[in-house]
Amino acid sequence: RVRTAILISGRGSNMVALIEAAQAADFPAEIVLVAANLPEAGGLERARQAGIATASVDHRPFGKDREAFERKLDEVLRVNQIELVALAGFMRVLTPWFVTRWQGRLVNIHPSLLPDFRGTHTHARALEAGVAEHGCTVHFVVPELDAGPTILQAKVPVLPGDDEASLSARVLQQEHALYPRALALVASGAARLETSAGVGT
Ligand code: GAR
Repeated sequence: RVRTAILISGRGSNMVALIEAAQAADFPAEIVLVAANLPEAGGLERARQAGIATASVDHRPFGKDREAFERKLDEVLRVNQIELVALAGFMRVLTPWFVTRWQGRLVNIHPSLLPDFRGTHTHARALEAGVAEHGCTVHFVVPELDAGPTILQAKVPVLPGDDEASLSARVLQQEHALYPRALALVASGAARLETSAGVGT
């Protein structure tokens, strides 16, 4: 099984979905570490309760030096012999240095039907735009923000009377089903990032 870390910043509901899916013996990824950029991230406690090792690398002492933060994070991943990294509500933009180092082994879940609504506040922006369908995307991470190739997407309807809370809850439910399926595709090698760029070892 592929040694996998989940990176979080918050409550970690997608993290829980991945941990639960990976409890099946035939799931191709093993969740061995949950790391957060905020020591107060609620998901860390949920990970500990599930018996998963946790780490926090607070980004704040590093100020504007994103790479210095990422070098520390990278060290934690390497010490734990991580082979695959799943971003699950990890709210730090990663530099090309980190992304290139993990290219092909770094995936993210984003709460929109990419390429629509890259960035933040996706549900409010989808409502504002008046789209009929919204959803979520699991994709390989590349240096350009929210631009990497899609692994899987799930769609939900936007219903009359929806607000940000109702729409985000409908999408989140899909996220919890989608992310384990997508992670399994990557861990098993069924989904790959086609690239000529070097992969860090
Ligand atoms: C999820 O909706 C995820 O798609 C989103 O943050 C939420 C985290 O919730 N991620 C992003 O917006 C990434 N830019 P969770 O902590 O309960 O999984």
